[in-house]
Amino acid sequence: MAATSSSATSNAASSLPTAAQLIAEVDRGFAQSTTRLSDFLRIPSVSTDPAFDGETRRCAEWLVAELRGLGFTAEAAKTIGHPMVVAHHPGVGPDAAARPRILYYGHYDVQPADPLELWTSPPFEPVIVEGPRGKRIVARGAVDDKGQVMGIVEALRAWHALAGGPPCPVTLMIEGEEESGSKSLEPFMHEAKARLAADVCVVSDTGMWDITTPAITTRLRGLVYMEVTIHGPTRDLHSGMYGGAVPNPANVLARIVSELHDADRRVTIPGFYDGVGELPAATKAQWESLGFSDDEFLGDIGMTQGFGEKGRSTLERTWSRPTCDVNGIFGGYTGKGAKTVIAAHATAKVSFRLVSKQDPEKIAKAFEEFVRSRLPAGCRAEFESHGANPAIEVSESSRYLAAAEGGLHAVFGKSPLLIGTGGSIPAVGAIQRILGMDSLLVGFGLDDDCVHSPNEKFELTCYQNAIRSHAAMLGEFAKLKR
Ligand code: BES
Ligand code: MN
Ligand code: MN
Repeated sequence: MAATSSSATSNAASSLPTAAQLIAEVDRGFAQSTTRLSDFLRIPSVSTDPAFDGETRRCAEWLVAELRGLGFTAEAAKTIGHPMVVAHHPGVGPDAAARPRILYYGHYDVQPADPLELWTSPPFEPVIVEGPRGKRIVARGAVDDKGQVMGIVEALRAWHALAGGPPCPVTLMIEGEEESGSKSLEPFMHEAKARLAADVCVVSDTGMWDITTPAITTRLRGLVYMEVTIHGPTRDLHSGMYGGAVPNPANVLARIVSELHDADRRVTIPGFYDGVGELPAATKAQWESLGFSDDEFLGDIGMTQGFGEKGRSTLERTWSRPTCDVNGIFGGYTGKGAKTVIAAHATAKVSFRLVSKQDPEKIAKAFEEFVRSRLPAGCRAEFESHGANPAIEVSESSRYLAAAEGGLHAVFGKSPLLIGTGGSIPAVGAIQRILGMDSLLVGFGLDDDCVHSPNEKFELTCYQNAIRSHAAMLGEFAKLKR
């Protein structure tokens, strides 16, 4: 066996299944992979809503059972919040211990499904429907992130079928709180550090460039999420009796929110841009060469023109510039018809996407100061933080990234593009800081997948390519020495 191989590396590698064999195995089992994804999607693991706590736990247990079936030791580990699914396989054969240890991260929880009336089919009853680019599966969590987690699980299934298990030591950490602040994640990682030790982390929770072009994301924006409530009079008031003579918290809040941006749509909070670097010329040129279409990106959401920081392209605005957005604002009478009232308080949920070296804690504090310094006498502001995470950049030149590129090339016939994303995955920063390793962000979503929206979907082509790619990438990692 492999007697002709000259080096130890190729000797070990020569007994591995080829990318073509892995792809054929994935394709053979794909109908069943889809059935299993449907089963996963049918469990409503909405992490933010305590009404779904039982289902969220059941979802973790479902995943544990799948992984045990593939020869992993797996458990739904207890945390201060929702269970963490942790699974481990030492890898098959005597060579496995010399190969890189891979940690996979993803999340089994999903966003709430509301507004329910806008779904064309019930969010937790997955259906496969024909779309303009072939079949797609429609359900909450289809792409974010259950479909992508199953991309990993089903790739491990192909390895199980062809080789009896993965070629490298593999650990999975699939969390149940990503969509609701990940409060258990860091304490869990500190406590389970030894079990989570690995050489590289692979995260599948981002997007492709387009349906035929894979991508590796190397920049994620950070996120500071603050809720602010302005309190004024001690009770709701008749707006005729008191209107014009006392501060109205809703008016005050609206004025303060409007002052957060200047005429060039830059954020006005003092120090906000501290640590925001300019893009290196080479990166800027690479982005310009991508051929990003504003018309397509904006047309898909019924817009004809971009809107944002003056003098920046849409890609810059979403990948490399910080933002401030109101995600919800309410106060006073919001029911049908009219009620003449000055409410005692008003609230806004304000989020900031961060880039480069912006300091989350500093920005949270500066926002508080910004609001407090603008309050009329007699009003007070109350703040609640829903998270503060810095932006992340991962190396574009690691040998693991090169291996991942090789695996993706075997599936797509072309190399992945290195891209940024506007979204945030707090775990990636924590994995860097606590476990000391970079993540490879290899995702298979598309911009029109309706993540966090009604009718979320995953193209079956993308699902199948996700499974093929994870199988092939693992084969490439196995060719490396630890
Ligand atoms: N998978 C997304 C992050 C994402 C979105 C990456 C779009 C690439 C493109 C993740 O589940 C998510 O929604 N993250 C949240 C942050 C979290 C703290 C709630 C986000 O970005 O809003
Ligand atoms: Mn996600
Ligand atoms: Mn999400």
